[in-house]
Amino acid sequence: MSEFIDLFALSVYRQKLKLDAGYQSQLCNRILEMERPQPDQESAWLGDTAGFEFLFREPEFEALFTSIGDAIRGYTEALGLNNDRLAFYFQRSWATVSREGQRIFEHAHQQSHLSFAFYLKKSLDGGGIYFSVAEHPNEFAAGLFTLSKEELQIIKRPGERTLNRIYVEPEQGEILIFPSKTLHSTAPNMTTEPRISISADIVVTLKESSGHETLMPAIENWQRF
Ligand SMILES: [Fe+2]
Repeated sequence: MSEFIDLFALSVYRQKLKLDAGYQSQLCNRILEMERPQPDQESAWLGDTAGFEFLFREPEFEALFTSIGDAIRGYTEALGLNNDRLAFYFQRSWATVSREGQRIFEHAHQQSHLSFAFYLKKSLDGGGIYFSVAEHPNEFAAGLFTLSKEELQIIKRPGERTLNRIYVEPEQGEILIFPSKTLHSTAPNMTTEPRISISADIVVTLKESSGHETLMPAIENWQRF
C-alpha cells in the first residue's frame, strides 16, 4: 500500500457572506458610479489606482466591512491561531469592475499580510480566480508543472500535486481569503454582465509584543518621524 502525505498546502478560505439583495445592489450602483469604463482595454477597472482606495471609510460600506472583518477572524481562528493576541487592520480597500473580455493579470500584494476577494456581483463564467505558486514544492524539474506540459501529455493527472496554477470558481456573495503574498489572477469575464469584486489588504499585528522578536508590535507603540 502506498499513499501521499501532503505537506504545506496553501489553504484558501471561502465563505458566503449574508447580504440582502437591496444592500448588494446599492453597493453595486455605488461602485459603478466610481468606475470609468475602459472598453478597449484587456485589464479590468481597478479602484485602488483610480483614487478609490479606502472603501472602508465610506459609510455605505460599513456593514459589509463588519461582515468581512468577522470572516477574516473566522479564517485565522480556523487556521488555528489565537485571535485574542492579534489586532487586525484594513490598510487599503477597493473595488474592481471587469467588463466582457476583461481580466486581472497575475500579481501579489506584497505590502500586507492578508488579502481577500469578495464577489459582490458575479455570474457563472464571469471570471473566476487563479492561484499560482512560483515554486511548487513537488515540481522536481523547472517548468514541469505548467499548463503546456499538461497539453503535451507529460502531466497525466492534472491537479494540486502537479500544477503550479489552480482555478477556483467563486459564487456571487462569496469571499475568498488568502495570504497577501499568494500570486493570483483572474480569468476573463466571458459574459456581458460586469463582474464586481471588492478587495482589501489587511495588516495583522500583535496586541502585546513583550517577549516577541517577530510580528509587528501594536501600532499604538510606533513613532512617526
Ligand atoms: Fe489582488
